[in-house]
Parts: sequence; structure tokens; C-alpha cells
Amino acid sequence: MSKRLPARRLDGLEYNPWVEFIDLSKEYETVNLGQGFPNFPPPDFAVEAFQQAVSGDFMLNQYTMAFGYPPLTKILASFFGKLLGQELDPLENVLVTVGAYGALFTAFQALVDEGDEVIIIEPFFDCYEPMTLMAGGRPVFVSLKPSPTQDGELDSSSNWRLDPTELASKFTSRTKALVLNTPNNPLGKVFSKAELELVARLCQQHDVLCIADEVYQWLVYDGLQHISIASLPGMWARTLTIGSAGKTFSATGWKVGWVLGPDHIMRHLRTVHQNSIFHCPTQSQVAVAKSFEREQLHMGQPSSYFVQLPKAMQRNRDHMTHSLQSVGLKPVLSQGSYFLIADISDFKSKMPDLPGAAEEPYDRRFVKWMIKNKGLVAIPVSIFYSVPHQKDFDHYIRFCFVKDEATLQAMDKKLQKWKAELGP
Ligand SMILES: Cc1ncc(COP(=O)(O)O)c(C=O)c1O
Repeated sequence: MSKRLPARRLDGLEYNPWVEFIDLSKEYETVNLGQGFPNFPPPDFAVEAFQQAVSGDFMLNQYTMAFGYPPLTKILASFFGKLLGQELDPLENVLVTVGAYGALFTAFQALVDEGDEVIIIEPFFDCYEPMTLMAGGRPVFVSLKPSPTQDGELDSSSNWRLDPTELASKFTSRTKALVLNTPNNPLGKVFSKAELELVARLCQQHDVLCIADEVYQWLVYDGLQHISIASLPGMWARTLTIGSAGKTFSATGWKVGWVLGPDHIMRHLRTVHQNSIFHCPTQSQVAVAKSFEREQLHMGQPSSYFVQLPKAMQRNRDHMTHSLQSVGLKPVLSQGSYFLIADISDFKSKMPDLPGAAEEPYDRRFVKWMIKNKGLVAIPVSIFYSVPHQKDFDHYIRFCFVKDEATLQAMDKKLQKWKAELGP
């Protein structure tokens, strides 16, 4: 074709760093602790609900309502209404989307205009930047800064904080939205009430929207509480709260997500939705509706999946945190999510010249080396940073611990072999 083929909005977005690492991991005999999905089944009640949706009422093979299967929007409204301290209307305040990815995309397309600035807190779930750019916006980055630890003491994601003055300096008259991800991927940070209050104050002061990505809200550890920023005074009116059934019920392939928010914002998301996706698969929505109905009955009890899953994942986190240290990786204690990051600075000092292009951030070279030589797959943390900040954070790698016992044991075996190679 002689005409320019790709739309200009795709400029600079073709390269996806994930593909390289996923492809490389397939070439070697590896234990995959890279991508964030469970390799164990969803809970029985959720699987049974899906099976019933497929084999029961044949009309569930057909379209449902554009903005969500009615029993699902109803249960999401009542379930999250209580948590957010709002009376939610299933039609006005809830939109069901193709996963949380779909929710984010719909939000960016609906709200971010040509030249609008969007504040993104680093390290960030990598799609926020391209989604801002595709909408014509300008990402403005601000990093969480780790505070120094005592010698020998493990770092914690709670030590990674925003500098209030720096954060305030990022707000301008062009700022349209701030993206907040708590619990955070990849760091596992759970924002404290005081931190959320700081963000909330600035959003209100500068009349800025908050896109709150809370897909890991049930995955918080050590007795911590997840707080939705939309529940803070004055924030409901300017916040979109995004969730994912994939993360909630360990069923990432179902691709059911949702957005909750005030009608004056949601109506614009509905416009995008009805002119793009129109509606999401009915049967997976049925299964998610039934699963939430079940969870509502078991809320807070030991039988609740939202109680059981974090307990099991905290055990996995502890197992992985302990095992990684055996070879000199230094895990940063994760407070939430599926992930933890580990500090590889000692390797950077001991073997600085790993193969790879000189300008390639160290963590990427290290992960390639680890896949090839140690059979372990992780994700370099620099890909969760904007290009100018990548060099400052190229000494961390991300591990995913939402894995079954056999995978954790296979990881241990690889680490034991690595340790033996290190010698006494
Ligand atoms: C922070 C964050 N937001 C959103 C998503 C996307 O969720 P979904 O699979 O429901 O599209 C992910 C998936 O990894 C994530 O980590």
C-alpha cells in the first residue's frame, strides 16, 4: 500500500518487551515465574457456575444487556456499594468490560483528550502509558522512591513512597487524570490511608480524575487492609474504580472486568463501550455473578474465597521470599498482589558485563542470563518504568507467586542447583 498504513496513534508503540522474554523462556527448560496468572484452578463454586451457564438455559448463549448481564451489575452494585460507602445503581454506576484491560481502555478513550496530561506512578502496570498515548494524552511520570534499609535488613514495598512535593509538582492546568494502582503491580505496595489522602487532596485541589486500578484488592497480606480511594471524602465524584474477575476468582481467561463510578463520568465510558465492544460474553458474566453472590453469603468467614486466597498466597509469598535469598537475590517484601520484586544489585556489581547491548538496562540482560543459565523466568522491572527512569531502576526483577505447590518446588530445585554452583 502506498498510503501510510498504521494510524499515527500507534507511533512508537509497536515494541512490546514482554514478547521477547516470553519467547525466550519457551526455548529453555524453565520454571515460569514471569507472567501473572495462576496455574491452579479457580474455586469449585466458580467452575460449577460456569459449567451451569454453558449447559443450562440456552438463551445464555445469546447477547445480554450491553453494559452488563443484569444479575452481574446488580451484585457488583450491592457488593461494592457497601465497600465504597455508596448506594450504587446497577445501570448508572456499573459497567462490565472485557477484563480490567477493557475497563482501562474504555476509561482512557472516554476521558483523555488530545494534549491532556495523565500522572502515572512508577513502577506501573505497563499498559497505562500506551493507553494514554493512544488517546492522544501525555503521560507524566512520578516514581515511588525506596528509602534505604539497614545492612542485612530486607526491604519492604511499604518503604517505597511518593515524595509529596514532587508529586504536587506534577499537577498542572493540563492534568486530566492520575492513575493509582493499589495493590501495585509489580511492587506489591499497598497504599496507606495517609498516602491515599495525599493523592486525594491533590486530585481535588487540581480538579483531576482518579483512575483507580484495584484488581488485586483481595490479595493483601499481613493483616493489612485495602482502601479504595473512591471511599475517601470527596473522591467518589471523581474516581473510577476498576476490578477484574480474573484476579478475583483466579480465572484470568474469563476476561470479565468492571468499572464503578458516578453516572456523570460513566455515561462517557458507556458511549465508548457501545461503539466498540458493545457487550461482553454472557456465560462468563453469569459465572462471575453467581460467584459474587456466593461470596456475599460467605463474606468475612473462613469459607470465603476472599479469605482463603490471600492466606494461601501469603504462604507462597513467604516461601518465595525465603527461597530467593539462598542465591543472593534480595526480595522486597510484597504487601499485596501476585508479585514481588527482588534486588539484583549484588549481581550487577559482581557480573556487570552480561551479554547484551550496552544501552540495554541491566535487569533485562540479567533475566535473559537467568533464563538461559538457571532455568528461571522473571520479568525485568525496568519495563514498568518510563524510558528516562529505566536506568535508575534496572537492578530489580519481578517474580510471580500465584503458582501451585509443584511450581514452587520446581523453583526450589533450580535455586538449590544455582546455590550449589555458587560453591561454599
Ligand atoms: C494492575 C493490573 N491491572 C489490570 C490488569 C488486567 O486485568 P484483566 O486480566 O482483568 O484484563 C492486570 C493484569 O495483569 C494488572 O496487573
